[in-house]
Amino acid sequence: MLPTILAIESSCDETSASIIQHGKVLNNVIASQSVHQKYGGVVPELASRAHQQNILHVVNECLASSGILKSQLNAIAFTRGPGLMGSLLVGVSFAKSMGWALGLPLIEVNHMEAHVVANFIDQPHPSFPFLCLTVSGGHTQIILVEDFLKMKVIGETKDDAVGEAFDKAAKMMGLPYPGGPLIDKYAQVGNPKAFTFSETVMPALDFSFSGIKTSFLYFLRDQTKLDPSFVDKNLPDICASLQAALVQMLLKKLQAAAKQTGIKQIAIAGGVSANSGLRKGLVALTEKLGWQVFIPAFQYCTDNAAMIAMAAHYKYLNGKFSSLDVAPIANLAIEDNR
Ligand code: KG4
Ligand code: ZN
Repeated sequence: MLPTILAIESSCDETSASIIQHGKVLNNVIASQSVHQKYGGVVPELASRAHQQNILHVVNECLASSGILKSQLNAIAFTRGPGLMGSLLVGVSFAKSMGWALGLPLIEVNHMEAHVVANFIDQPHPSFPFLCLTVSGGHTQIILVEDFLKMKVIGETKDDAVGEAFDKAAKMMGLPYPGGPLIDKYAQVGNPKAFTFSETVMPALDFSFSGIKTSFLYFLRDQTKLDPSFVDKNLPDICASLQAALVQMLLKKLQAAAKQTGIKQIAIAGGVSANSGLRKGLVALTEKLGWQVFIPAFQYCTDNAAMIAMAAHYKYLNGKFSSLDVAPIANLAIEDNR
């Protein structure tokens, strides 16, 4: 039987719920938290409080807008990790109580696996095996995807995530949080070759973004000493140069991973996959290297419950259920979630 599943995502600062019926996502309700904006980043305690305030409304809205009754549900899915412990606790506890009250089985989902599986929400989707570059505010990973339940991280960042590098660089230039989309916007009218920054070169398929972040900080400090309005006068060129450098770092490792594995089907996932420089760079490689590239619709790139629902659908079909004593794990690794 193909199931109807309610899925809940609460790992960071979006409270989201989605219903999947017979493998088709029916909706994707998201309450974003604006409370963090004035702090220049997500404040964990404020995030968990906002999840508590939002979750009942989001789940009710999700049921109402899908036209699905609680009695039609076959399972409740939720993000077990990775994420902020307080935020995860709200979603996990809510899902457990609802599952218990309705007598429904629970399905835990790994948030990073779900980002990968977001590539299956719409057509066309990749076929196995493929590589997925998952780039978000918290993660930068290259994943070898052999099956819905068989994924292996073959490269990852050893310090900051690339989204974090975008956001911190934006903050240094006085731009509001999250700065990634703003850097992308200004970069579109700037010269990517105007400035260069040094970066830490990592072995194999791993990444490091702390070196380029420090280099960028010193660059701004030196330039503003000479001219205090340097950033205002050169914002598009600075953004274009930084974006080009970050995108090149990602694409270099992705090319190495494709060469090493012989895989030419490449998917991307996570909030940074919205970046226009990354998308353009991928399209150029598609032509040059004969890659087939898959990019989820933007609403499924950033944090959302539809991807949790999609991952839960395949776990349901494989009989992967969780017991009522399941607890969130803040640093849940992909390989942990078998
Ligand atoms: O996946 P996501 O919504 O949340 C998690 O971090 O899990 O990703 C958010 C990240 C932020 O760092 C944000 O600045 C970045 O994605 N981002 C972008 C763009 N849109 C979102 N970074 C660069 N260019 C963009 N267009
Ligand atoms: Zn995420």
